[in-house]
Amino acid sequence: MLEEEYQATNRPVGAQRNLPPLEVPFEYSIRDARLEDMPDIREIYNHYVANSTVTFDEVAQSLRETRAKFQHLKKLGMPYLVAESAGQQILGYAYVYPWKEKAAYRFTVENSIYLRAASTGKGLGTVLMGELILRSKQAGLKEIIAVIADRGADASIKMHRDFGFKEIGRMGKVGFKFDRWLGTVLMQKSLK
Ligand SMILES: CC(C)(COP(=O)(O)OP(=O)(O)OC[C@H]1O[C@@H](n2cnc3c(N)ncnc32)[C@H](O)[C@@H]1OP(=O)(O)O)[C@@H](O)C(=O)NCCC(=O)NCCS
Repeated sequence: MLEEEYQATNRPVGAQRNLPPLEVPFEYSIRDARLEDMPDIREIYNHYVANSTVTFDEVAQSLRETRAKFQHLKKLGMPYLVAESAGQQILGYAYVYPWKEKAAYRFTVENSIYLRAASTGKGLGTVLMGELILRSKQAGLKEIIAVIADRGADASIKMHRDFGFKEIGRMGKVGFKFDRWLGTVLMQKSLK
C-alpha cells in the first residue's frame, strides 16, 4: 500500500466528520406510473395528508384506494406519471382525473402533483407538470383545472401561474383542517 493510500484510509474519526458532504446529483427520469409504484405514491401523498393543508384529505389513503384510482385512470387513458431517481426511488408523481363524472365534462380534467418532500424546490415539479400537460394534450383533453388550497400552497400557485393557468375564482372557508378554515383557489388552463 502506498503511503498516501494508507493515510487516506486511516484518517482519524474527527477528520472524517469534517469532510464536505457528498454531492449527490439530482437526476431523474419521467415515465408512466406502474401498479408497483403505488406504495411509494401512497407514502408521498400521505405525508401531505398528515402534515399540510395542501390536500383537504385528513385520513391516510389506503393502498387499495391508491391502486383503484390508478387502475381507473389507466382505463380512461389519462396520463399518470412518476419521476424516478437514478437509484429507482419514486421522487414524485402527477396525474389528471375527470373534473366531473357527468358526460359533457369529458374533455375537462383536474390535475394532481405531489413530490417527495426532499425533492421539492429543485425544479422537478416544473418538469413533471410540463410533461403532464403535454401528455394531457396528446390524450385529447382540452381543459385542466387546478384546485389549490389558499394557504400553504404558494409553490403550487406560482408553478401553475407560470404554466399559464389563470385564476378563475376562489372559494372561501370550504375546508376545515388543523382547527382552521381554509379556502381554495381555482385555476384553469386551456390546452386548445
Ligand atoms: C408544488 C410542487 C409540485 C412544485 O414543485 P417544485 O419542484 O417544488 O417547484 P419548482 O422547484 O419547479 O419551482 C416552481 C416555482 O415555484 C417557486 N417556489 C418554490 N417554492 C416556493 C414557495 N414556497 N413559495 C413561492 N414560490 C415557490 C420556485 O421558485 C419556482 O419559480 P421560479 O421558476 O420562478 O424560480 C412541489 O413543491 C410539491 O410537491 N409541493 C407539495 C405538494 C403540493 O403542494 N402539491 C400541489 C397540490 S395543489
